Amino acid sequence: MRLLAAKEATLRHEFGIEWKLTGVASRRIGWVAEAKGLDPIAALGHGFPKAPEGTAPRNVREWLTAARADVLFEASSLNRHDGQPATDHLKAALESGAHAISANKGPIVHAYAELRQLAHAKNRKFLFESTVMDGAPIFSMFPHSLPAVELRGFRGILNSTTNVVLTEMEKGLTLDEAIKRAQEIGVAETDPSNDLDGWDAAVKVAVLVIVLMGVPIKLEDVERVGIRTVTPEQVAAARAAGMRYKLICRAARTSDGGVRASVRPQQLPLSDTLAMREGTTSVLRFDMDVFGLTVVEHKPGVIATAYGLLADFIRAVKDSA
Ligand SMILES: NC(=O)c1ccc[n+]([C@@H]2O[C@H](COP(=O)([O-])OP(=O)(O)OC[C@H]3O[C@@H](n4cnc5c(N)ncnc54)[C@H](OP(=O)(O)O)[C@@H]3O)[C@@H](O)[C@H]2O)c1
Repeated sequence: MRLLAAKEATLRHEFGIEWKLTGVASRRIGWVAEAKGLDPIAALGHGFPKAPEGTAPRNVREWLTAARADVLFEASSLNRHDGQPATDHLKAALESGAHAISANKGPIVHAYAELRQLAHAKNRKFLFESTVMDGAPIFSMFPHSLPAVELRGFRGILNSTTNVVLTEMEKGLTLDEAIKRAQEIGVAETDPSNDLDGWDAAVKVAVLVIVLMGVPIKLEDVERVGIRTVTPEQVAAARAAGMRYKLICRAARTSDGGVRASVRPQQLPLSDTLAMREGTTSVLRFDMDVFGLTVVEHKPGVIATAYGLLADFIRAVKDSA
């Protein structure tokens, strides 16, 4: 919301886009809709006008109708088990004739083909640039900027918590101390299991394989080893040998038309482009038939995620104008 407000003049003058906020929803605030427009800055502090008794929307469909939404941004918490309720939110948006923009990876892992077909049938956009590497143009690069390439595989570091933890362990901290440090700087959550056990990285690998490699892999088919087993002694020994531990995401096509995908800690030589990436920096190296390409996102903050959503918003609105 802050970025949308900050870019208001740019959107108007450079892209001819005018916008107003007509709805906000979460579990705590419920379904808030006002087709005439809500104050976006007040909305940041949950300052909403009270709907007259019995008129508030009761579900996502009533809410989309009341808001007269042209675009939905879905940024609810990741549910890796079934992608809900985000998938239903996105489906409802597309069915109502709105573009659907998601920061949430769950719906891609669980319902990518269905959402894509629905968007196509409704002549609306289903976009999700911020799901992997935030604002970096990963999904918009294929196929627009790289037509006719064959993506054979990729390698990357896609989880910032584990990269911060491993970087801190190289400074001599234990795993627990390094986790505490990652929590102090606001990278790791109170319960960092999703990151430490490789789930977040595995979900991202699945999203990349499904969308960019066209293989409908299941999350459980991504081999997954987290970093809990990596000891400070191993990290120190690797450094002494000119190597570095990183949680590496990887996928490669197999001869039977499938994809082998994994997330696991690996020792890399310092000369490897992935080994150089410290702290919250993410990196993804694509292996294509014509050349290799590496994208590095340097120390992204939450504004980088917001930018991914904003870029999708511009693409959705301009491409269908
Ligand atoms: N943070 C990042 O840098 C980043 C980067 C890329 C992608 N993402 C993705 O973006 C999404 C949001 O990230 P986040 O860090 O803000 O997650 P978060 O801290 O889990 O917050 C998500 C929001 O979703 C709401 N929510 C959760 N479950 C809901 C439900 N069942 N129905 C309605 N609202 C619900 C929560 O509000 P209530 O508690 O009021 O329900 C909260 O405001 C996630 O899917 C995440 O994977 C985040």
